[in-house]
Amino acid sequence: ALGTRVERQPLARYTTVGVGGEAEIWFVETLDGLHEAVQAPYRIIGAGSNLVIHDSGVPERVIRLSGPLAKADLTPDPGLSDPVNGLIVTGWVGGGTPLPGLLRKLQALGWSNLEGTVGIPAQVGGAVWMNAGTRFGEMFDGLHTLEIVTPQGVRHITPDDLNWGYRNSDLPRNHIVSRVRLKLQQSTPEEVQARMTHADDARKGQPKMKTPGCAFKNPGGVSAGMLIDRAGLKGEQIGQARIAPEHGNFIVNLGGATAADVLGLLRLIRGRLAPALDVPLELEYEIWP
Ligand code: FAD
Ligand code: EPU
Repeated sequence: ALGTRVERQPLARYTTVGVGGEAEIWFVETLDGLHEAVQAPYRIIGAGSNLVIHDSGVPERVIRLSGPLAKADLTPDPGLSDPVNGLIVTGWVGGGTPLPGLLRKLQALGWSNLEGTVGIPAQVGGAVWMNAGTRFGEMFDGLHTLEIVTPQGVRHITPDDLNWGYRNSDLPRNHIVSRVRLKLQQSTPEEVQARMTHADDARKGQPKMKTPGCAFKNPGGVSAGMLIDRAGLKGEQIGQARIAPEHGNFIVNLGGATAADVLGLLRLIRGRLAPALDVPLELEYEIWP
């Protein structure tokens, strides 16, 4: 389809931790392009900020939303917005739009509801698919409509159609969030900024290096980072991957790490922590394939 580009490339370039072997990447710019791309086994990648991909890559084509599907039309929809009550429903925001840049624009407009997700280096689609968030707020706080693409076609749904919850949209794997409309509340740039700064303060202790974010979910609500810290595992290193000295739940790539290095550290942590817990220790990242 028009605007689709297919290239074999290392997925390491498309993940925040910078590991992962090759795949056929489909850069897709239109709904027609998506329809074509889903006719054979596929995966959808966002900003790759929650992925550890094996050094051998993946056999399926990997779809990456590009062009118009990675841009946001923030013009309020006149039929859906309600200015008297400060309700703004936006035009279509592409699933490939980088979340951090989007949040900066919303702050400048003084539009509230999503500032709790500040600091999450995702794309909109990836953040929606897993309802990314922090204790200050999550993606579903600001969603009006979701456009979903599957091999069966395109459909529009609302959050009420989903049984969404903590870090979970309820959307099945490979249901592509192609675009969304956001639902925002008129506030002021100063107030939105103040809430963003407050939420961002909670990230002060996180490492600034290449990483796929937190490795494990907090078991029973207890900080996995704190448990890893208490087990004396901070600073442990395999190859070029290290458990961050700043925060135990982050594995960082010192430069040239392989997926095997990262997976080795995950096994080390699990082996040390899991036997002492009475709840399961669940991985937060996704491992491909
Ligand atoms: P990817 O990592 O590319 O993909 C993750 C999953 O989403 C895959 O299953 C993929 O198939 C699917 N997916 C991607 N795009 C789409 C789409 N358009 N439609 C359907 N499915 C899609 N997460 C939090 O929740 N809170 C945090 O505070 C947080 N802090 C982080 C800090 C750092 C430094 C890093 C590196 C990560 C952090 N994360 C956090 C993890 C990560 O950013 C989130 O999990 C985010 O939702 C992943 O989005 P992504 O676009 O990078 O998706
Ligand atoms: N702590 C330690 N040592 C460590 C790490 C943490 O003692 O090595 C202590 C801290 O001092 C603090 C407590 O543990 O008293 C909690 O730490 P933090 O505030 O960092 O919160 P967290 O539960 O470890 C969660 C999310 C992060 C999110 C932060 C801030 C999970 C698994 N992690 O971390 O999300 O950024 O809160 O909101 O839910 C992610 O999901 O990828 C992620 C990074």
